[in-house]
Order: sequence, then C-alpha cells, then structure tokens
Amino acid sequence: MTRKILVTSALPYANGAIHLGHLVEYIQTDIWVRFQKMRGHQCWYVCADDTHGTPVMLRAEKEGITPEELIARVHDEHTRDFAGFHVGFDNYYTTHSEETRACANEIYARLCAAGLIDARTIEQYYDPLKQMFLPDRFIKGECPKCGAHDQYGDNCESCGSAYTANELKNPYSAVSGATPELRQSEHFFFRLSDPRCQAFLRRWTQSEGRLQNEAANKLQEWLGEDGESRLTDWDISRDSPYFGFEIPNAPGKYFYVWLDAPIGYMGAFRNLCAREGIDFDEYWHAHSSTELYHFIGKDILYFHALFWPAELAHAGYRTPSKVFAHGFLTVDGAKMSKSRGTFITAQSYLAQGLDPEWLRYYYATKLSGSMEDIDLNLDDFIARVNSDLVGKFVNIASRSAGFIVRQFAGQLCPCDESLPVFQAIRERQTVIADHYETREFGKAIREIMGLVDLANQYVDSVKPWELARQPVRASELHAACSNSLNLFRLFSILLKPVLPALSVKAEAFLNIAPLVWNDSRTVLAPGHAINAYQHLLTRVDKRQVDALLDANRESLSATPPAAAAGLRAQEPVAGIALAAPARQISIDEFMTVDLRVARISEATPVEGADKLLRLVLDLGPLGARQVFAGIKAAYVPEALVGRLTVMVANLAPRKMKYGISEGMVLAASGLDGPAGGIFLLSADAGAEPGMRVK
Ligand code: 2FM
Ligand code: ZN
Repeated sequence: MTRKILVTSALPYANGAIHLGHLVEYIQTDIWVRFQKMRGHQCWYVCADDTHGTPVMLRAEKEGITPEELIARVHDEHTRDFAGFHVGFDNYYTTHSEETRACANEIYARLCAAGLIDARTIEQYYDPLKQMFLPDRFIKGECPKCGAHDQYGDNCESCGSAYTANELKNPYSAVSGATPELRQSEHFFFRLSDPRCQAFLRRWTQSEGRLQNEAANKLQEWLGEDGESRLTDWDISRDSPYFGFEIPNAPGKYFYVWLDAPIGYMGAFRNLCAREGIDFDEYWHAHSSTELYHFIGKDILYFHALFWPAELAHAGYRTPSKVFAHGFLTVDGAKMSKSRGTFITAQSYLAQGLDPEWLRYYYATKLSGSMEDIDLNLDDFIARVNSDLVGKFVNIASRSAGFIVRQFAGQLCPCDESLPVFQAIRERQTVIADHYETREFGKAIREIMGLVDLANQYVDSVKPWELARQPVRASELHAACSNSLNLFRLFSILLKPVLPALSVKAEAFLNIAPLVWNDSRTVLAPGHAINAYQHLLTRVDKRQVDALLDANRESLSATPPAAAAGLRAQEPVAGIALAAPARQISIDEFMTVDLRVARISEATPVEGADKLLRLVLDLGPLGARQVFAGIKAAYVPEALVGRLTVMVANLAPRKMKYGISEGMVLAASGLDGPAGGIFLLSADAGAEPGMRVK
C-alpha cells in the first residue's frame, strides 16, 4: 500500500549559519525520507527558515539592512548548505510568507472562537531610548545575589543564581545601554491551563507510539499527575517593534516567533501543494489518514509535544502522527567549541573539500531511534569512512570493473544467485528495511557492512587478479567479476538513502536506471553492458580534518585574553597568574592534598546554574561524594558518566546555594579561562576509584 507521508525537520533560525550540530537532524530526516521514497511511498519533506523575532530584527538593524534583506541572504546560505549535504527537501521555504500568515491567522481565530485565548496585562521592562519592550536576554545588570556586573536578565554566569529580570540591580538595556522602565502591556495567552487542553494532552502524549518512551516520560513529568494542573498559559504575543506577523484586530501586537514557527511547516507545505497540485486538506484535516512526522532536537520537545498538538487539535486540524526527537552532537566527547575549532560550519566543511557523504555515512553509523546524544569522534570518523566505504564497499566495484570492461567488452555474464552471500542479502534485507523505518540507522549499517564483509570474502576466495593471469580461466574471471558487480549493485541499493550522490555515480557506471528498494530482488541480466569505472569516493586524509579544525578555531591569540574571555579590559583576568609557576613547595606540603581517583557515577545539570554540573563521585572504599563543578560549558553530562577522573578529597566541604560540595574535580584550562577550554583530567584504564594520586 502506498503511504502518504509529510515529514518536517525543525526550522533553523534565520540569523545563524548551519553547523554540524544542525546537520545531525537534517541528515537523519533526509535518510528516512529517501528510504520512504525508494520504497515507492508518496513522501514530502518540507522545511523553512524561522525568520521572526527580536534577534533577527536587531541583527538586521546592526548590519544596516532590512530584516527582509537579512532573511533573504540567510535563506540563500541555508539553501546552499543543505544542498551541499544532499538534504533533498521538496520545499525549503520561509515563515515570512503569506501562506504561513494565513495559517497563523486561521489557527488564532479558531482558538479565539474556542475560548482558548485570553488577554491579560503584564509588566515588562521597556527601553525608553530604543522604545521597545525587552526580552529577558536583552536586559543586563548586577546579580541580585553576588553583585557580579553585566549579568543577563535570567541568571548569573558568575554565581549561577537564577532570578527574574525585575530582580537585577542597576539594570540596563543591552540594546541601547539605557535604564529600562517597568511598563504595563496587554498580551495574549493561549490557555494551556484550560481543562480541555490538559485532558487532551494527557491522552495525546500517552497514546501508543506517539512519542519515544523517554519523551513520553518527560511529558508526563511536565503534565503532572491526573487532576494536577501544572501547565501554565503561554504568552503568544509581543509588542511592536517586532519582526513578525501583526495579530488581526490588534494593532501593534505581533505573534511571538514560536507561535508561527511550527505553523511554518503548514505554510511550506501549502506552498508546495500549489506547485505540485497536492491536496493540502487531505494532509491536514482533523481525520486525515495521511501520516505527519516531525523530526526535532530534544530541546524543543516542549513546543512540539505540548503547544503544537494542543493548538492544532483545538483549531480543528489533525495532530502529528509521531514526533521523533534526537540528541545533541558532541565532537570528540565534548560540546562543540569555538576555541577548539569543533564548532564546524557546514560551509567550512564543504569549502575545505571534505566529502559530505563521509559525514552522512558517519552520522548514519551513530544514529538510532533514541534521544541519546551522538559523538563525532574525529579519529573514528576517518577510520570508519576509510575502512568501510573506501576499503570495503567501493573496493568491490573497483576490483572487478576493469576486467569486465577490458576483457569482456563491458558485458556481464549470468550472476550466480545461489552463492551464500546473495542468499544472506535476500535474508537480511527485510531486517535492514525495518531498521531504516525505525530510524535505527546504526543497526542498518552494521547489517549492511556485515554483508559487505561476506562479499569481500567471496572476492578474496575467487581471486580475480590471479584468474586474470590465466587466459584458460577467462570464464571463471568473467563469472567472478559479474558476481562482484551484482553484489556491488545490491549494496548500492541498501546504502542509497545514506549515500545518494555515490549511488548516482554507481548507477551511471553500472549503466542502470535510478535504483529503488525493490530492485534488490533482481540482478543484472546476462549481457548487460556497464560503462567504464568512474572514481566513486576518496579516502579521508587526517590533514583535511586538521585543516577543518584550524579553519573553525577562533583565533584567541590575536585577541588579548581579557577580550577573548568576554571580560572588560579593566577587570583582573582570572587565571593570568598561571603564566608563571606558583611558589615552590616541599613534598610534605604537596602530600597534604589528598588526591584520589574517582569514577563519575552521576552527572546532571543544576537548575538555575549556567556553568555548573552536579557530579556524584564514586571513591570506592571511601564512599561517594557530591561535587559541583564549573565544567558545564565543556561537557555534556551524560558523556561524563562512567569515566574516571581525579578529585581533591580533603577539601573542606562548601555550602553552596544548590547543596554541599564535598571536594573538587581537577581540570586544566588555558590562560584565558573557560574561553581557552576546560579539560577534565582522567586516569588511565586500570586505576580504581579511591586510589591515591601522588
Ligand atoms: O530551536 C530552533 O532552532 C527553532 N528555530 C526551531 C523551530 S522548529 C518549528 F517549530 F518551527
Ligand atoms: Zn551572581
């Protein structure tokens, strides 16, 4: 049965470049969509730039251009980057479109009619110079707790406290520097606290297969127990000046960017429908039998699994069939970092001459249906691509093609499908399809590479290069090479969702029509003539990866350390004293510091603290300790669990706002403080928790 499927990826903001973190999602979605299309389903993939909001407005102003000019430029850049990585949208649109405006107005009108929109007066900071209300991130001042200067309106980067903008001392506008005034303004709220929304969301989020288990659990937490009403109403309006859609019958009031962003999925699809003659309503009416899937990052689950379905359902539309959340990208086990050069833009990757399909393949090997983070380990990246793709897959074709072209006029002889490797492929292709369907791409690749290994064992056993030296064995050579090329064709089918460009080259060289999934049931007919072998894929050279890191490393040496760390020049620069060694001490003095090997058994973010992680350190026979460490900028908590590190075990316990810190973990950092990176110490394998370090 042909399925009708609409697929989206999250809309990237129109004020920043696409980077390798973004690409996890677009590559994941693209692989899935290509798989569905190869299966013969009608599958549409749409996306758009997320264009509205204060940051876009201010950025355009800073550049001296209109927001429309800014979003047009960024749209071109994003389109170029996605095409460069073979992300095959059927439509890459913009939220700043008449289609999105019409859908937003319609949804808003229906929610008003349902009694789910309230107008309420709120108090908010206003910049009298700039004459605009300020979002919290554009207000700065002194921390109400520790007095640190230049802190943002939501939390202090120095002591980690959380507060509201109204609590900041001596607040000033980050836009103009003016002292903001508290002013009243009428805002519109979507009444998520309404019992109808709560009841609907409880049903919706817990219905079978709608969300991944981890996501459903998170939602359960947000919703609270039955009868409890944890959801608060959602402020969906902003005051002029704002770059967005003005709310009908409310002059000077605009839809908040997060209101029209998901509606942008509809707008992009409506635009595609007009172009392709698709029936928009068939996909969006309340009882649609078509499928709708949103691929998103786990950080925006709240919007996609609460606000969005509640809006749709109460505005008379269908809701998403499933929401697929993925984890974040780490590079070499740590958050992407500008100082390490691992904050890699899509454009720089392509400009340095790296092949986009290397990354597509590597991500595929790491992706699964879960929300776990995925790590781009650069050494592993080089090894996997070179070994699997160049050494194993492409090698099957390159070893056989020359003989067929030179000795057999390019023509194949009958394929021997009774060989065990062909049988193994037939047997495993359903499992591989299931893995693609459930987004278990890593498992699909493992299956395929297992079969590729079998094919190479076959080639090694028949040794075409030896047969070629014995003219009397020409027919054996012909059979061996024909079988090999048929195997190569089958693997090209199985890998095509991941490697679309390589597959196109393979199709040209094999002289065949574009491959679809069911082509794996057949083989090439005897007498079929191939074209001369064309180069399919090069090896990754470590020097290219090093050059890529260099190109993305923000030059800190060119900037005085204070500026690089974001500090004002007159402030003392923390860590500068490290340039000279500290005073000499005796061994006895050193031994007063009790350093111990510790295993990190828990690592979690600390609510309200920007820089801290809460670690639980297992010291073996010495028990467990809780430590708050300022390493959040450099590490994803989950990636730390299980690893060995070194701690100061006899540091006096310190009472912090979040609890008692019972020690300190050791980390290296550069002269320029956190901007120079934070590098947690590790112990070599074999060390045991609790061992003394001396
Ligand atoms: O988080 C983000 O990058 C948003 N621009 C995603 C929007 S997704 C959808 F709702 F439009
Ligand atoms: Zn503070």
